[in-house]
Amino acid sequence: MTPEVDGLDVVACEHCERLCASRSRIVNGVGPADADLLFVGEAPGANEDEAGEPFVGRSGDVLDDALRAAGLDRADVRITNCVRCRPPDNRDPRADELDNCRAFLDHEVDSVDPEVVVPLGKVPAEHLLGRDVAVTSEAGDVVEADIGETRRRVLISVHPAATLYDRSQADTFEHTIGRAADFTDGESGQARLGDF
Ligand code: URA
Repeated sequence: MTPEVDGLDVVACEHCERLCASRSRIVNGVGPADADLLFVGEAPGANEDEAGEPFVGRSGDVLDDALRAAGLDRADVRITNCVRCRPPDNRDPRADELDNCRAFLDHEVDSVDPEVVVPLGKVPAEHLLGRDVAVTSEAGDVVEADIGETRRRVLISVHPAATLYDRSQADTFEHTIGRAADFTDGESGQARLGDF
């Protein structure tokens, strides 16, 4: 079956047999279609699978709090995942599943055209940058990567859940989200790419 897409939403897809069996629904990105900030998680968990929205569980609360501390609101940013269907037992998405969902993510990045893409955690960072990433030491770094049709700025971040079991990561996470907020001043992303 060919996937069915409506704008930035995947309406129907059966590419990944195992994920079709473990999901209740496809969890698409949320937030403005022209957001300055695009956060990219790994895959929906149980809460997201139930609600049909990325980052609504405890990780979502951590993200929302950090956004507020940086003077932003969840409604101001776009939030999506590398993989749109919940993996069984909340395991990491597999390479073939990341590959199967990649065209949808690339399309979302191209279309939203954010000032900066913020992968939340190791899986999305490595998926977007195409290399090993030591997120704890690289968090807060802005690097460049080809995503979709364009070279983009990517701000590396720890996963919000990391702050729940390691308080030292909370400062790192808040600092990173504060850095992300600096990119919301309305200048064109591509115009500013030369600043780095
Ligand atoms: N973790 C993720 O990576 N994505 C979500 O949507 C929720 C938790």
